[in-house]
Amino acid sequence: MLRARAGWCWGLRRCASLPRALRVREALQAPEPLERVKVQGWVRSVRSQKEVLFLHLNDGSSLESLQIVADPSLESRDLTFGSAVEVQGKLVKSPHKKQNMELKAETIHVVGPCNALLFPLKMKERHPLEYVRQFPHLRCRNNTLGSLLRIRSEATASIHSFFQDNGYVHIHTPIITSNDCEGAGELFQIGVANEAKESAEKTHFFNVPAFLTVSGQLHLEVMAGAFTRVFTFGPTFRAENSQSRRHLAEFYMVEAELSFTESLQDIMQVMEDLFKTVTSTVLSKCPHDVELFHKYIASGQKGRLEQMLKKRFVIISYSEAVEILKQASQGFTFKPEWGCDLQREHEKYLVKHCGEIPVFVINYPYDLKPFYMRDNEDGPQHTVAAVDLLVPGVGELCGGSLREERLPFLESRLQRLGLADTYQWYLDLRKFGSVPHGGFGMGFERYLQYILGVDNIKDVIPFPRFSHSCLL
Ligand code: 4AD
Repeated sequence: MLRARAGWCWGLRRCASLPRALRVREALQAPEPLERVKVQGWVRSVRSQKEVLFLHLNDGSSLESLQIVADPSLESRDLTFGSAVEVQGKLVKSPHKKQNMELKAETIHVVGPCNALLFPLKMKERHPLEYVRQFPHLRCRNNTLGSLLRIRSEATASIHSFFQDNGYVHIHTPIITSNDCEGAGELFQIGVANEAKESAEKTHFFNVPAFLTVSGQLHLEVMAGAFTRVFTFGPTFRAENSQSRRHLAEFYMVEAELSFTESLQDIMQVMEDLFKTVTSTVLSKCPHDVELFHKYIASGQKGRLEQMLKKRFVIISYSEAVEILKQASQGFTFKPEWGCDLQREHEKYLVKHCGEIPVFVINYPYDLKPFYMRDNEDGPQHTVAAVDLLVPGVGELCGGSLREERLPFLESRLQRLGLADTYQWYLDLRKFGSVPHGGFGMGFERYLQYILGVDNIKDVIPFPRFSHSCLL
């Protein structure tokens, strides 16, 4: 008897006379032969011998393709690499050690032919990531992007489970907003496509300038004031004119906000737990997909990750970080100075200095950080309760802080910045049941880059958007 397995619903026959439809992954894992089955997918290889025709079929359900064995009489001109096909036949135990099951084809129907000469992906070729990046509409049919997208999907589910299991309420924070949370001016402004119409009306669509959000934090703070623990996980947008391997104009951010939290330690604990739980889940649920990256793209990364999961992340203060950098034997392009931002070269050095494991850097200079961060009131080297998590290979993965919950502090800071009128609603939160709170944001693409060892952020998102590029 064929039984349902956790997470997979075995293809059911809607009518006894119809063959059972199976996904490739189900077929590969089937515990026993099956008489009448149907699989649908795209041809990954065709090998025609005198007496037998071999195909490999992939439908995105697994990295591994299903081997189809057919009589050469079933071959047709349209049966090429890349074509979409439906195969019916018998699922049998495979004589080959490498695979569990194979399909003995009785019929092969080409659903959608593919001109293999024009198709940019070639059979059995390991295309470099830079090459497939030129074809965002086709690269998901390549093994590497296929694995990446399955991992991305599993990591997304695991992030949601982590927060739901720990009592957080998921909030859909808005994409369109009238505030600049980070105050860095990296905003995309929203306009109506038909400019003539807008100027005729001499008004903004929303009556106020509106932007694509750079962070859902301020909206999460509203909700943390009622639900205690909240999270959001959605697209965020930054008009950074950067072609770097770590920046996108549209990226996904996981953000959490916790009320009744008086120490950065609590925030760091959630960051570390989130990171470790999601990574362990991805490693155990997608072993083959992850292995592809660790074998062909970042050798040695598997061992490094496993080691890292066993260790506690390091915590240093910004002031200690600057001292470490000043004493470094190597030179830096940007001289380390208290009060200056940590540059990529500094982040790299700090992570190396701490043993190539993730490092929390806490308590940054007051003048370096956004208005919402909590004042540490600590003398001449004035700092705020901020935390950045730096990881090997990628640099900054998360940014967070305690928020300024004290009305007089926040009011005077906003006044100095000339923002008090704009943020009246934010000040209200400090008047009506204000509590100590804090939170953080983790860049989802940087997270994937780190665990998989992918050098360029454009290769861990299905459709990358960055300055001078918005394909599709
Ligand atoms: O450090 P950031 O700017 O923090 C915030 O936006 C806070 N409001 C979050 C919060 O406390 N709720 O951004 C958080 C993370 C960064 O550490 C980085 O991983 C990622 O978002 N990130 C980017 N990822 C890709 N492309 C970009 N242009 C990014 N900018 C930030």
